[in-house]
Amino acid sequence: MLKINLGGCNSFVNDAEYKAYLDKALAAFDVLESETGAGNDFLGWKKLPSTNLSNGLIEECEAVRDSWKAKNVDLVVTIGIGGSYLGAKCAIEALSHSFAKELGSKGAPEIVFAGHNLSEDYICELMDLIETRNVACVVISKSGTTTEPAVAFRIVKQYLENKYGKAEAAERIVAVTDAARGALKSLSTQEGYKTFVIEDNVGGRFSVLTPVGLVPICLAGYDIRALLEGAQSMEELCAKRCTECNPAIQYAAMRNLLYDGGKKTEILVSFAPKLQYLGEWWKQLYGESEGKDGKGIFPASVNFTTDLHSMGQWIQEGERTIMETTVTVENASRNMIIEADAQNLDGLNFLAGQHVEHCNKMAELGTRLAHIDGGVPQLNVTIEKINEYNLGEIFYFFEKACGVSAYMLGVNPFNQPGVEAYKKNMFALLNKPGYEDKGAALRARL
Ligand code: PA5
Repeated sequence: MLKINLGGCNSFVNDAEYKAYLDKALAAFDVLESETGAGNDFLGWKKLPSTNLSNGLIEECEAVRDSWKAKNVDLVVTIGIGGSYLGAKCAIEALSHSFAKELGSKGAPEIVFAGHNLSEDYICELMDLIETRNVACVVISKSGTTTEPAVAFRIVKQYLENKYGKAEAAERIVAVTDAARGALKSLSTQEGYKTFVIEDNVGGRFSVLTPVGLVPICLAGYDIRALLEGAQSMEELCAKRCTECNPAIQYAAMRNLLYDGGKKTEILVSFAPKLQYLGEWWKQLYGESEGKDGKGIFPASVNFTTDLHSMGQWIQEGERTIMETTVTVENASRNMIIEADAQNLDGLNFLAGQHVEHCNKMAELGTRLAHIDGGVPQLNVTIEKINEYNLGEIFYFFEKACGVSAYMLGVNPFNQPGVEAYKKNMFALLNKPGYEDKGAALRARL
């Protein structure tokens, strides 16, 4: 079971302050649970684990997996951006062999991502890859109108139709989108694609436990039932109105207390390279949910020990406006012992007989203590090992804590009005009909 440890904040806050923030977090939790706060029409994510364990969605995902397996599909292009991409990317990276590509097929198709940028080089290189492979495509967009995935999908769709013919291409495309609205929905209906629905009441960055995350994760060969079961365990724990036992309330309370005390940036840390994309998913979740109305902790992420050799100096001695949340993985999934060496030329015999992971653990503990000494409060979330169940726990825990935390901050966690600004400028500069005046005004500024 996921555990939280806030002992690394003891030298930065006192008990009375923390108690006061726990009370504030409890009040925010009540708003979330009674569904009376801002954005309360976007709370469908709270019950996703229990709902999706029993409504046939798992079997529906597995049916797609099996039908593409029967076609010997060995590459699935998954198209999406933001919340329609990061959850699946995070889970697949975490669960995959670090050298899966180099080692070759493990029986499931390789999943590659597209539509999360507008780089011509990237899309051309993607086409180089798919020309050599037996390809299918999952296109994911809740709104069905986002430019980046729409451009990538137009190109991949045309390629699939040229290669396989229109009818077969339609069998190799699955869409995940709104039940009724958006260009992707109407296109899918017209072309006869298998479609999964993203419910209206679930926003993109809270959608990893919907078909947005579940379809690609299942296609990659991972156990989405275990993922949902792990999430369900947190759905139960994080629903408790309990400051002593609910980790979402505790985490939200402490990070807001530290923020109000001047710690304006939170760095998510992992010592497991496979969790690099957990940082990317978490940054989107917290960045888009909290960064508004001139407020919000700036979410950043690093991977240690790698980044101790790039960002370690800044974290230890730079401006003292940061807090760190380390996601600890208690146990490695594999074993490697450092053997004794008769000559000991490298001077490492003091490590003989130790697991490599033991060194990683000591590095982690040493870093956390050094950073406390350097003025960086330490929050800690621990899972036993990296697997589907524990990732489900982490996803749900951070989502619930995010809802509580954003309500403590006094913002609507479930909108993202600021994302529109760049889109409008981009449309204007691309001469999208309707944006002519804005385009002229922008060009005059360039
Ligand atoms: O969290 C969000 O709502 C956003 O990050 C969206 O997921 C992202 O903009 C992609 O939107 P869509 O799924 O509508 O293409």
